[in-house]
Amino acid sequence: SQYEYILTSRPADGVALITLNRPKALNALCTPLFDELNKALSDFDADDSVRAMVLTGSDRAFAAGADIKEMKDKEYAEVYKGKFLESWTLLSSLRKPIIAAVSGYALGGGCELALMCDIILASPTAVFGQPEINIGVIPGGGGTQRLARVIGKSRTMELTLTGRNFSAAEAAVWGLVSRVVGPGQGEVITQAVDMASIIASKSAIAVQAGKEAVNVAYESTLNEGLRFERRLFHSLFATKDQKEGMAAFVEKRAPNWTHS
Ligand code: HXC
Repeated sequence: SQYEYILTSRPADGVALITLNRPKALNALCTPLFDELNKALSDFDADDSVRAMVLTGSDRAFAAGADIKEMKDKEYAEVYKGKFLESWTLLSSLRKPIIAAVSGYALGGGCELALMCDIILASPTAVFGQPEINIGVIPGGGGTQRLARVIGKSRTMELTLTGRNFSAAEAAVWGLVSRVVGPGQGEVITQAVDMASIIASKSAIAVQAGKEAVNVAYESTLNEGLRFERRLFHSLFATKDQKEGMAAFVEKRAPNWTHS
C-alpha cells in the first residue's frame, strides 16, 4: 500500500472505504496520518468511479484524538504561524458524501473528525467525548461549534467543560448519530457501506446538490437557506439526470443515470 497509517479499499460499486490504521496509538491523529487521510480523501473525491465514501477506525477506536505526544511541546508561534490543524478541515470541503462508521473511542479530534462527516453510524460500543479540558486545552477541530449546532448549548457546554465521555445511546437520542447498529464494528461498516451503495446508485449531481443544500442549513438563516435550496433545485432542471429520472418514473422503469 502507498500508506502507512491508513488502509483504502473499494468494498462496493461506487464506494470507497478508508480505515484509520494506527492501532498501537488507538488511531491518534498524528500529522503524517492526517496527511495520508487528506491525500486519500482528495483522490477519491476526484475519482469519478467513487460516488460515496466511508471512514472508519478499529473496533476499539475510531480515533482517540489528536496525537498528544506530538502536540505537547509545541509553542504558540509555531502553531499559529504553521496554521496547526488547518489542514484538518479538508474533509468538510469534499463534494461527495462521507459516512463515519464509529466503533470504540471517538475522542477529542476523533469526535471532531466524525462530526465533519456527513452521516455518523455508531456501534453500541462507541464512546464519544471532547476531553481536551482534561489536558488543559479546548477542542480545536470544530467540536465546540459543530456540537453546539447539533446537540444544543447546554449539552455542549457540559461536555466541553467537564470533559466527560458520552455513549452511543446518548449520541443517538441527541441526534448526533443517525443510527446505532451493532454489535460491533463489522456491522457498522457493513451498514455504512450499504448506505453508501444506495447513495452511489443515485444521480451523483443530485447527491452533490443535496449535500450542499443540507450543509447550508448550518451556515445561514432559514430564509437564505430556503432560497439557496430553491435555486439549487431549479438548477437541476438543467441536468440530463432530471430528464432521465422523471422520464423513467413516467415510463415505469429504472433510471439510467449519466451523472450529468
Ligand atoms: C497519543 C495516544 C492517544 C492520543 C491514546 N494514545 N490516545 N497517544 N495521543 N490522543 C496511546 C497511549 O499513549 C497508549 O500508547 C496507547 O495509545 C493505548 O492507550 P491507553 O491509554 O494505554 O489505552 P486505555 O487505557 O484503554 O485508554 C484509552 C483512552 C486513553 C481512554 C482512549 O488512551 C485516553 O484517554 N486517550 C487520550 C484521549 C484524549 O484526551 N483525546 C483528546 C486529545 S486532544 P503507549 O505507547 O503510551 O502505551 C485533541 C485535541 C484536538 O484531540 C484538537 C483539534 C483537532
